[in-house]
Amino acid sequence: MIEIQSSDTILDLKSGRLIGSHLKRTTTTIGDLRNYFKDRTALNRMDPDQAVYWVEMEENKQKEGEEGGLFFGISHLCCGTVGDEFFMTKGHVHNKFDTAEYYWGIKGTGLLLLDNLKGSSRLIEVKPGAVLYIPGRTAHRLINIGNEELAVGAVWQTISGHNYGRGAQLFHNRVTKVGNSYQVTEA
Ligand code: PA5
Ligand code: NI
Repeated sequence: MIEIQSSDTILDLKSGRLIGSHLKRTTTTIGDLRNYFKDRTALNRMDPDQAVYWVEMEENKQKEGEEGGLFFGISHLCCGTVGDEFFMTKGHVHNKFDTAEYYWGIKGTGLLLLDNLKGSSRLIEVKPGAVLYIPGRTAHRLINIGNEELAVGAVWQTISGHNYGRGAQLFHNRVTKVGNSYQVTEA
């Protein structure tokens, strides 16, 4: 006899939210992003406790740094700007530099900024259903260019780790709002 179990966690595809009893959530605020946005005057006028994004994950399944496991997380990036620069994640490379990652779009409209740290950058559209492969040795950052929350799923190795470098300097480009569209400038 094989016992049939139900999964501990459900991904609600409409909202992009995880439903379950063993979840953890990490919120990143305007204050945490002080060194990332260019317009310091606009930043200083904002509430440092305002949430810019939060990441939810299953709790205690595996530990960062362990070999062989995978993490599964959903990033929820609010819509908004600091000055004219769209809300974005800090962005990072992996401590285990050559490890790759998958992202996929669940809700909202955004961009994935990839930078190989050797002078070559790429922007990939993020929309519901888009499957995005992030190669190893590549800095990655999400940017919300839409009018609603951007929800993006991610799977990465437990050994990967996050290395935030020296903040915005990992990236050579910025994405700013111009009317109803966006433009890309040098960082
Ligand atoms: O592992 C990932 O790449 C994501 O889960 C990110 O950690 C998440 O989007 C938050 O971004 P950051 O770690 O750059 O703050
Ligand atoms: Ni990553």
